[in-house]
Amino acid sequence: KQTYRIATIPGDGIGVDVTAEAVAVLDAVVPGIEWTEFDWSCENYLRTGAMMPADAPEQLAGCDAILLGAVGFPGVPDHVSLWGLLIPLRRAFGQYVNLRPVRLLPGTESALRDRTAEDLDILIVRENSEGEYSAIGGMHNPGRPDEFVLQESVFTRVGCERIIRYAFERAAERGGRLCSATKSNGLLHSMPYWDSVFERIAKEYPQVSTREMHVDALAAEIVLHPDRLDVIVGSNLFGDILSDLAAAVTGGLGLAPSGNINPDRTVPSMFEAVHGSAPDIAGQGIANPVAQILAGAMLLDHLGEHAAATAVDRAVCDVLRDGQIRTPDLGGTATTAELGGAIARRAVALVASD
Ligand code: NAD
Ligand code: IPM
Ligand code: MN
Repeated sequence: KQTYRIATIPGDGIGVDVTAEAVAVLDAVVPGIEWTEFDWSCENYLRTGAMMPADAPEQLAGCDAILLGAVGFPGVPDHVSLWGLLIPLRRAFGQYVNLRPVRLLPGTESALRDRTAEDLDILIVRENSEGEYSAIGGMHNPGRPDEFVLQESVFTRVGCERIIRYAFERAAERGGRLCSATKSNGLLHSMPYWDSVFERIAKEYPQVSTREMHVDALAAEIVLHPDRLDVIVGSNLFGDILSDLAAAVTGGLGLAPSGNINPDRTVPSMFEAVHGSAPDIAGQGIANPVAQILAGAMLLDHLGEHAAATAVDRAVCDVLRDGQIRTPDLGGTATTAELGGAIARRAVALVASD
């Protein structure tokens, strides 16, 4: 049996608590994982002047996958902490796909009443390496009345083609429907280009039915008619915004996992929750660990441990359906450890009965 080497970066705030639960659940279903924990965080920044060491990518390169909590905490500006860790790691490992499945899980109440699991099962494929997230730009005429900043977006041919093709592949193996998030009415260069790539690649996939929606209208569609959506592909910023929105309509940020994936598999991919470090509830032991545990299930799936991944997924569903143990975001009083522990025990039982 294969042993896996998995790096964890628990990070800041609730990232630390939810990562501990995900590690325990993965240990429960796949024995013998070799974990290496890296304490890279805002605390590390305040201590050393850097979120992570300059050779961090080399330190991580040998592992099979990375499980990241969340980084960012009051005391360190967000652009410093995120451009000091999360964004450079995504780029160092070419993790150009950000895969964000959004499902209505059993036993959780959607903000959209009367919706059932079949109505809400969306896969957001977010471009993860370029687009609006760019370091190009800067301040002009500082201090003068005509002061302004420029923030450039970068949409490369390679970058657009590979993420759109990836989304078509996922759509072809799922429900056969793909919706592209655009905004070519307002953005004069980037989005018309994105649309032209989308339309060109669509011709390679006649079996996939396509829609192109302006991202504002698409945001409304997620709330009003989630059943009409299957796979959504969007740029870095649009995918970011739509994934928090979609998570919210399924019952909250505490439930939505995410994978930063390099499909080439020559380098590690990195799995994390969609949510951040939640400073408003940090240190209280009440964060919902489900999103991070489901990110762990995505990690196992990526490693080819499909049975273990399914066991984790089913354990989450069973415990939520049962409804006895809920964290406060789900209307209960359970702690992070109580919900994580219940999911781990259920996962063990499922693996044993297989
Ligand atoms: P956030 O996702 O941390 O929190 C938004 C709201 O959702 C808060 O009210 C929070 O309490 C709640 N919430 C989030 N996760 C929850 C969970 N598991 N259980 C219960 N409630 C949960 O977003 P934010 O407040 O915009 O960001 C906080 C910090 O995290 C910032 O520094 C931000 O830059 C950073 N951030 C990091 C990542 C990452 O590292 N992957 C992702 C997003 C945000
Ligand atoms: C996410 C986060 C990050 C992003 C931030 C923290 C830079 O919101 O992973 O969704 O926008 O990519
Ligand atoms: Mn986000």
